[in-house]
Amino acid sequence: MKLTEVYKDALKNHYSLGAFNFYNLESMKSILGAAEKLNSPVIIAVSESALKYFGFEYLKNAIISARKTYSVPFFVHLDHGKTFDACVTAIDCGFDSVMIDGSALPFEENVSLTKKVVDFAHSHNIQVEAELGKLKGVEDDVSSNEALFTDPKEAKLFIEKTGVDSLAIAIGTSHGVNKFVGEAKIRVDILTQIEKEIPNTPLVLHGASSIPQKLTDEINALGGTLKNAKGVPEDVLEEVSTKHNICKINVDSDLRMATTVAIRRYLSNNPAEVDPRKYLTEAMKEMEALVTHKIKDVMKTKSM
Ligand code: G3H
Ligand code: 13P
Ligand code: ZN
Repeated sequence: MKLTEVYKDALKNHYSLGAFNFYNLESMKSILGAAEKLNSPVIIAVSESALKYFGFEYLKNAIISARKTYSVPFFVHLDHGKTFDACVTAIDCGFDSVMIDGSALPFEENVSLTKKVVDFAHSHNIQVEAELGKLKGVEDDVSSNEALFTDPKEAKLFIEKTGVDSLAIAIGTSHGVNKFVGEAKIRVDILTQIEKEIPNTPLVLHGASSIPQKLTDEINALGGTLKNAKGVPEDVLEEVSTKHNICKINVDSDLRMATTVAIRRYLSNNPAEVDPRKYLTEAMKEMEALVTHKIKDVMKTKSM
């Protein structure tokens, strides 16, 4: 099954796929374990720095092993590839899909870099995601600078010029644990305009962790110092998955928090324990529970 076919089904049947970041066997097995139990397709995403951390050969073989281990459809995806070469490396490593992130470049340069990756990737039967607009940090006053959001007319031109398979858009989300000061502001109105211009293009929402208050509170109670942590409310994620054309929702920070909470909790309750398998098992359980909840209750991913 190809990712583009699942996206087509997601557009038609109003759900999205979770794209969960991983960087080691524990995170990889937790995400795939959750998807397998639900029998729901999932995207497992590797950033350039995660690929380096995992190691090219180790990751290549982990992907081969995972393809033999799980029967649920899963897609290995390069997250925020910055260069053509990074995309080629991911394809050599056995990925199904790559993101070329030219969002920091001027429009025409983003178009030509994306087009170059699309031509190469498609000739290898690999899907491509690109990004238009900028995801800004909480320090930037996004609401007063419309230029940061994806321009719907530009999005149409971008799709026509590049032939890219899916498009990441900027509608007010950002990466990390500090996304908003005060109320979360997500511009669903801009999403509506974009999907009018490109109704058949699967859209992608980055920076979509919800940073559950419960996890923040527990981390802080156990010695953490997270300040002003705030994410995207889950009802907004459900709305853009089921009533709009968002087909892929990226989650990294929530998994980092789940891991951190589980390890802090375990070590606090078992101060004499030194076997990492004990607390890493707890981290895996916490990650798996989080992924299960996201897939089933938030993204409403269809079971196969
Ligand atoms: O969008 C970025 C992802 O959260 C990956 O971050 O480069 O620290 O692995 P990373
Ligand atoms: P979060 O930091 O909100 O988890 O975003 C992850 C992401 O967009 C990965 O590409
Ligand atoms: Zn991202």
